[in-house]
Amino acid sequence: MENQLEQQSEKRKRVFSAIKPTGNPTLGNYIGAMRQWPAMSDEFDCIYAVADLHAITVAIEPKELRENTKRMFALLIALGIEPEKNLLFVQSHVTAHAELCWLLNNYTMFGEGRRMTQFKEKSQKAPENVNVGLFDYPVLMAADILLYQTDIVPVGEDQLQHVELCRTIANRFNNRYSPTFAVPEGRVPKVGKRIYSLSDPTAKMGKSDGNADGSVFILDRPEDIMRKFKRAVTDCDNKIVAAKDKAGITNLLSIYASVQNMSVRDAEKEFENSDYASFKKRVGEAVVETLRPIREKYDSLRRDDNALVELMRSGAENARRVAVRTLEKVYKKIGFVRL
Ligand code: TYM
Repeated sequence: MENQLEQQSEKRKRVFSAIKPTGNPTLGNYIGAMRQWPAMSDEFDCIYAVADLHAITVAIEPKELRENTKRMFALLIALGIEPEKNLLFVQSHVTAHAELCWLLNNYTMFGEGRRMTQFKEKSQKAPENVNVGLFDYPVLMAADILLYQTDIVPVGEDQLQHVELCRTIANRFNNRYSPTFAVPEGRVPKVGKRIYSLSDPTAKMGKSDGNADGSVFILDRPEDIMRKFKRAVTDCDNKIVAAKDKAGITNLLSIYASVQNMSVRDAEKEFENSDYASFKKRVGEAVVETLRPIREKYDSLRRDDNALVELMRSGAENARRVAVRTLEKVYKKIGFVRL
C-alpha cells in the first residue's frame, strides 16, 4: 500500500479522514462522511483512521474505548474500505500524531481555538469537564491531516470549521519557514452534509444522543430502524417537500435521497402522492436495505479478533512510514537537533 501511495502520489490527490470511536456510529456519520470514503479510493490515495485519541476528550470507560475502537475499525472495513487499497489504521498506534499536535500548538492562537463552535457546544453540554484536550481537539485534527500531505478531507458540515483552522495553521507554518504542508480542502457531500435527529429535527443526529429513538445506528437491527422511522417527528400538513419550515420531512427526504443516490427533487417527485406513514415506512426500508450488507460483513469480521488486530498492526506500520517523513521535516525546520 505504501509503495502504491508513493508511485501514485505524482498523479493522484491524497484524501484523509477519520472518525472517533465514541458511542455508536450513526446514520449521520454514514451519510455525512463514511459513505463517501470507500468509493474515493478509485480516484484518490486514501488514508482513513479511527481517531481514538480524540475519543478521550469526553469521559469514556476503558472497556468501552477498547470495544468501540475495534468496532469502528471493523465497521470501516465492512463499509468497503479495503485495507489493501487504502491505508487504514488506529490514530494512537502512530505516535507522530500526538507529537505533531504538540508542535502545531505553538502555531495556533488561543483565540482561534476559543472560536470553534464544537468547543463552545461541548463546553456548554458538560461544563464540569471542559478539559484542555477538548480545547486542543482541532489542533490534533490538524496534525492528523497535515502529517499525510492531504489534499481533500471528506467530512460532514460540522467539521468544516476545523478543516478551515487546519488550513490556517498550515499556511502559517509554511509562511514562517518554507512550504512544508499541503494545504487541504474540506469536502462535504451534496446531499446529507448534516443529518438531524429523527425525534428533534433541529438537532444534529449524534452518536451519544440521549434520546435513543432520535439516532439510527449503523449496526441497529432492522426492526429497530423501522420503529425509529415510524416514530420520526414530522408536521401536520401531509406534503412531502423539502422546506425551511418542514425540518422533519426535509431530513427524511435527505436521508432517502442519499441512500438511494438520487437528488432531493427526485425523491420529492417519487412521494408526490404518498402520505406520511407510507413515506416514513419506505425511508426506513431503504435504510434497512442499505445497512444490511454492512452489518452482515461486520458480524463476520468480529468473529476473528486476532485477524482484526493484525490488520491494525500492518495499517499502523504503513501509516507510520508516511507520517514520520513529514514529522522529521517539521522538527528540522523548527530547529530541533535530530539524531
Ligand atoms: P466524528 O466521529 O464526530 O464524526 C465522523 C464524521 O461524521 C460526520 N457527522 C455527520 N455528518 C452529517 N450529519 C451528522 N449528523 C453527522 N454527525 C457526524 C462528521 O462531520 C465527521 O466527518 N473530529 C472528527 C474526527 C477526526 C477527523 C480528523 C476528521 C479526527 N481527525 C481528521 C477529518 C480529518 C469527527 O467529527 O469525528
